[in-house]
Amino acid sequence: MCRPVGAVAVKCLVAVFAAAVVGVAAVTRHPVTVVVSFDGFRPDYIKPNVTPHMAWFQKVSAAPPYMRSTFPTKTFVNHFTMATGMYSDKHGVLDNYMFDKHYDKMHYTYEQFHYDDAVVPIWIHNEINGDGRYSGVMMWPGSEFAYQNKYPTHIQKYNSSIPWTDRIDKIMSWIKDEKKPANLVYAYFEEPDHTAHLKASDSQETINQIVRADATLKYILDQIKHEKLENKINLIILSDHGMDTVTYNRMIHLNEYVSNTTYKSIMSGPNAFIHPNPNKFDEVYKNLSKVANTSRTFNVFKQDQLPDRWHMKNNTRLTDIIYLLAKPQYAFWDTYFEFILNGTTKEKFKIGAHGYDNAEPQMRAIFMASGPAFKKNYSAVQFDNVDLYPLISRIAGLTEPSRQIDGTIKGVEQLLSVGAAPTFTPPVLGIFSALLLQVIARSRL
Ligand SMILES: *[C@@H]1O[C@H](CO)[C@@H](O)[C@H](O)[C@H]1NC(C)=O
Ligand SMILES: *[C@@H]1O[C@H](CO)[C@@H](O)[C@H](O)[C@H]1NC(C)=O
Ligand SMILES: *[C@@H]1O[C@H](CO)[C@@H](O)[C@H](O)[C@H]1NC(C)=O
Ligand SMILES: *[C@@H]1O[C@H](CO)[C@@H](O)[C@H](O)[C@H]1NC(C)=O
Ligand SMILES: *[C@@H]1O[C@H](CO)[C@@H](O)[C@H](O)[C@H]1NC(C)=O
Ligand SMILES: *[C@@H]1O[C@H](CO)[C@@H](O)[C@H](O)[C@H]1NC(C)=O
Ligand SMILES: *[C@@H]1O[C@H](CO)[C@@H](O)[C@H](O)[C@H]1NC(C)=O
Ligand SMILES: [Zn+2]
Repeated sequence: MCRPVGAVAVKCLVAVFAAAVVGVAAVTRHPVTVVVSFDGFRPDYIKPNVTPHMAWFQKVSAAPPYMRSTFPTKTFVNHFTMATGMYSDKHGVLDNYMFDKHYDKMHYTYEQFHYDDAVVPIWIHNEINGDGRYSGVMMWPGSEFAYQNKYPTHIQKYNSSIPWTDRIDKIMSWIKDEKKPANLVYAYFEEPDHTAHLKASDSQETINQIVRADATLKYILDQIKHEKLENKINLIILSDHGMDTVTYNRMIHLNEYVSNTTYKSIMSGPNAFIHPNPNKFDEVYKNLSKVANTSRTFNVFKQDQLPDRWHMKNNTRLTDIIYLLAKPQYAFWDTYFEFILNGTTKEKFKIGAHGYDNAEPQMRAIFMASGPAFKKNYSAVQFDNVDLYPLISRIAGLTEPSRQIDGTIKGVEQLLSVGAAPTFTPPVLGIFSALLLQVIARSRL
């Protein structure tokens, strides 16, 4: 039921109106939003002759030249930031591979995604808002775990063997579900990231995956058209981060400099967590700093030295940890790279890596949004992916989450079409009303 409370009433009217004019297959009366992530898709992969559908879709959508990733520019971190509207220190996923509190390795575990039990992904919050809202989540990192003992109504666990077209068919069936139609869908595709890691971004193998993502966008658009839902579904195509290239001569072999018996470490690409043995913290820190100073291939941070703009430092998972970040095009040698080297030679060793400073241009992500909620043919100003949550929340008409988020509507409000954004400020109202309306808008997130 629509409860007529302030701005909510306007939103209810919009929803009812939208459902009335569409007159198609039985779908939810709420706005429908489908968020599709192609892992590691870098903005410059989009070229009219390679990715004609992406290039076209970007032009007709509301799209910035790129979206800023959250630090560290890793998959789990960024997908969880987009799902929660929080930076890494608040949601606690600090990397794909990281330490648990007893300094054992964590990699895609329940504990990794439950630093703070009050952190709830938007697909759960959508269902908590009720009123006929149902979520569908297709392989989005972090979705296999319950949050506050709840799962989304429709869920497909990660399984890379499931053909991509089957995944989309399933998503469409969630949206058309007669009893519990999804108003919110989050879908994840593991390429072109996976292939770029093994073969580097400019390899033919990676280009094939970029083309595959483009064909998948066409397939999604065809399905939406086939169901006559073009005026009902808001489709967002995005990625989590970009990709850089590393050759063998830019691999950092830490063991050669600091005795690996004096610390435990977890490294993945350019990021490393170092936990020194008892009473060894200062010595390990000093030796690592010396290597960093002379080699200039990486930086060394104690927890309190991490830059504020990374929004990572305020997290107890970094207590007694020395954090290392490689410079662009460098990475820390580990067993994954050993595995890759086994199939090639040092001369030919050329791989993809990400996780670098989110200010690096190579780490940028894509974003394009089309549908009734969005402006058309709109060249937007770039924004942070932490703002995706308030954007989706606004469209879906959700209440403020219990744990305060970091993202704001400010950077993404520009994308919304006037009809879709009832709290959008008409310029004639002047600055005072604008401020007042902003307060109302914020209180709704
Ligand atoms: C993954 O999907 C494939 C193809 O649909 C299927 O054969 C396989 O059983 C699935 N694996 C799991 C673990 O569900
Ligand atoms: C420690 O370093 C030595 C010498 O480089 C190496 O042979 C050994 O495999 C390393 N051990 C671990 C646990 O990384
Ligand atoms: C630090 O460097 C000093 C001097 O090279 C060396 O004696 C010591 O073993 C190193 N400590 C560690 C933990 O590697
Ligand atoms: C490394 O360089 C920094 C900045 O120049 C300096 O403060 C620090 O003392 C150096 N550390 C070592 C171990 O040489
Ligand atoms: C750091 O995190 C704690 C606990 O999550 C929170 O109470 C505090 O306000 C945070 N501090 C800053 C400076 O963000
Ligand atoms: C290298 O590849 C061979 C053949 O595929 C395999 O038997 C061997 O275990 C691999 N070694 C490493 C270190 O991965
Ligand atoms: C968007 O641009 C395309 C081609 O550039 C044009 O055909 C179309 O009419 C435009 N749509 C709107 C709503 O401006
Ligand atoms: Zn990724």
